[in-house]
Order: sequence, then C-alpha cells, then structure tokens
Amino acid sequence: MNAANPEMTQSTLDTPPEGIGDTSVEPPAPSLSIVIPTFNEIDNIVPLVGRLHRTLAGIEWEAIFVDDDSRDHTIEMVRTISLRDRRVRGIRRVNRRGLAGACIEGILSSSAPVVAVMDADLQHDETRLPEMLRMMDALSADLVVATRYKNEPHDIDGLTKLRHTGSRVATQLAQRLLPTQTSDPMSGFFMVRRVIVEAAAPKLSLQGFKILLDILTSSSRPLAVAELPYDFRPRLHGNSKLDATIVTEYFGLIVAKLTGGLITPRFLMFCAVGSVGLLVHLSVLRLLLVNGLSFPAAQTFAMMGAILSNYTLNNALTYRDRRRRGWRFITGLALFSLLCSFGVLAGVGLSTLIYNQEPHWWLDGIAGAVIGAVWNYITSSAITWRAR
Ligand code: GDD
Ligand code: MN
Repeated sequence: MNAANPEMTQSTLDTPPEGIGDTSVEPPAPSLSIVIPTFNEIDNIVPLVGRLHRTLAGIEWEAIFVDDDSRDHTIEMVRTISLRDRRVRGIRRVNRRGLAGACIEGILSSSAPVVAVMDADLQHDETRLPEMLRMMDALSADLVVATRYKNEPHDIDGLTKLRHTGSRVATQLAQRLLPTQTSDPMSGFFMVRRVIVEAAAPKLSLQGFKILLDILTSSSRPLAVAELPYDFRPRLHGNSKLDATIVTEYFGLIVAKLTGGLITPRFLMFCAVGSVGLLVHLSVLRLLLVNGLSFPAAQTFAMMGAILSNYTLNNALTYRDRRRRGWRFITGLALFSLLCSFGVLAGVGLSTLIYNQEPHWWLDGIAGAVIGAVWNYITSSAITWRAR
C-alpha cells in the first residue's frame, strides 16, 4: 500500500498494510469484544475481569470498559489492569451520562465481529458468554439475548418486588407494541454482530437503559434473535443507577417508535414539565386570590411561578444533557421567559383565529395549548438549550 496516499478505499482495507496482521508476531485478533458500561463501579472491576479470564479461557477476547467519569475513579482501576493485560482497555467519557450512549461508543470502538454488552456489577452471569458465542454461530443469529424470563417468569432474585413488577410491565408493553422477538427486551445482557450496530448507530438513542430494544427496532431488516436464560444475580458492590427518569425515558422511546419519531421522549418530558407548571400556576393563583390580591396581580405572580418551575424542571430533566449552570442559568431563565411570552401570544392569537371560524371553546382551548407548547418546545430546543 502507498503510505503517502491518505485515501483508504475498501480494497486497501481488505488487504491490510504489510507487517500488520502477521499472527506469528502479533497476538491474534479477538473474536469476542465485551463492552462494559460503568458508573461508580470501582469495587467490581477486579472481580469481573478475574471472572472473564476464567470463563473465557480458549476464546480470543477483549474487554472495553466505558466509564462516564465516575467520581470513584473507576477508570483508573481499569487503566491499572490495562497496563498488565492488553485484553482490557477503558474509554473515559467526560461531561456525558447515559448507559445506552456508553454502550454504543464501546461497540463502535471494538474490534471483534461479535460484541457482548454486560453490566459491571456482576449481576449478569458471565459464564453464559461462551454459550452465547456458540449460539451466534450455530444458529446464525444476529443477536443472542440473555433473558431473565425464559425459565421462571415470576422470580428474579436480583430485583426488588417493585422493580420486578415494573420490569414486567415494561416488557409486556414493549412486546405488545413493537415487533420485538424476545422475552426480555429490557435486558442489558446480550451479544450482537457488530455490523448490525454499526448500521443502526446514527439512529440509536443515547439516553437511558433501553439499548437492546432500540437496536431491535432500529434495524432495517428483521433480526434473527436467539435467547438463552440466566439467573440475574444480586449486585456485588455499589448501587443501581436506574431511576424514575430512566423509566420515563423508556416509555418515551416506545411512544417515539410508535409515532415514527414524531413525538420524541424529550417532547414528552417537556409536556410533563408543562403540566406541573400548570398546577403551580393554578395553586399560586388560588392562594393569592384567597389572600386578597387583585386578579391581575395574582395572575402575574402565578405566571412567574409557572415559568420558574418550568425552567428549573426543564433544565434539570428535559435538557439535563445540555444543563445550564451558574451565570448561564440566569441568562437562560431570561431567555426562556421572553420566548415563552411569544408562545403565549402565538397560542392566543392563532386559537382566536380558529375560534372565529369554529367556535368550540374546548377545541380552540386545546389548539391554543398545543400551539403554545409546540412553540415553547421548538424555541427551547433551538435557542435556550441549543446543542453546543
Ligand atoms: N458509562 C455509564 N454511564 N454506565 C452506566 C450509566 C451511565 O450513565 N448508568 C449505569 N451504568 C452502568 C452501571 O455502572 C452498570 O455497570 C450498568 O450500567 C447497569 O447499571 P445498573 O445501575 O446496575 O442497572 P440495573 O441493575 O438497575 O438495571 C439492569 O436491569 C435493567 C432492566 O431492568 C441492567 O441490566 C439494565 O441494563 C437493564 O435494562
Ligand atoms: Mn445492576
């Protein structure tokens, strides 16, 4: 190959440059990459790598830890191991959070044709990995899901009762609504051909925990999915990061998929925050009126309360990946208030126009609210919390 030629065509990629890929001098390429997202998992790293060594003897493997800048310095533990073990490496992501995004970056950085995704906390039974790899070949599968439900659908030791019910409901909802072919679309433990993720990557959501469901529904062709049961173990060290926002995002993804991407999880969150704002508005209004304030004064304070509540909650939840802090928090509030007042004007103006044609107070009320919400959402996404 001509080293001076920077262009890499497919044919030059197929035949690697001389001296590269000579297995008599270099270690053989991995046949399995294991991507392990981590967030504050320092105490689990050494036990996990030890277990991988034991269970994967005889397989060429590599492990890629993808850490979102954990406060407990998980990544340093990974680096310490990498210094002695070339199979192990770490990616440190800064100013970012998200299990799905971490997994996708890990997969895209991997080298083997087959990639497994598993948690770092030892809840996933790593001894299933060789069998999963065997199934990939034997069944010509695109994806093998390690499922918690195949054997005993009503008993998962590692989950609390509430988590268990929630997980069950989420699973059934996904199964009913989406063309998924697995008993555990919420599983965080699966193996997939890397090309599948490479192709779907631009479409995948980076937030939340629903990566498997997302891969299953984003592929351009139906995937051949195999399943294998395992026992979900209790966590060894540290805490679960699954919280209410993650659950909300999951249901948001389902709605997004069902509406062909028209209604996004972010928009749903924006609307939920808006509903809280409405409650704040009405409560403040009532409180001040009862205490003898004039209507215009009470209404003004109520609106300010609602705007403050909407801004703070949107900053914390809807746009948490673009959160405004410090001085930018203040300027953002000013921007948000200004843009929302245009939203009110647009909503009132347009719904009045419609009212003059079609005088149904409720229909035009809803139209006004929708126009206002859409306006506020568009300006919030494009201006107040624009992607930087
Ligand atoms: N890089 C990164 N960034 N890793 C994360 C993040 C994040 O924002 N959030 C969580 N993780 C890592 C954790 O460190 C752990 O290794 C793994 O992702 C799973 O997180 P847990 O917090 O342990 O999740 P869980 O045990 O409550 O949830 C399990 O069950 C879910 C279904 O009920 C996981 O297997 C999920 O993948 C699964 O969807
Ligand atoms: Mn866990």
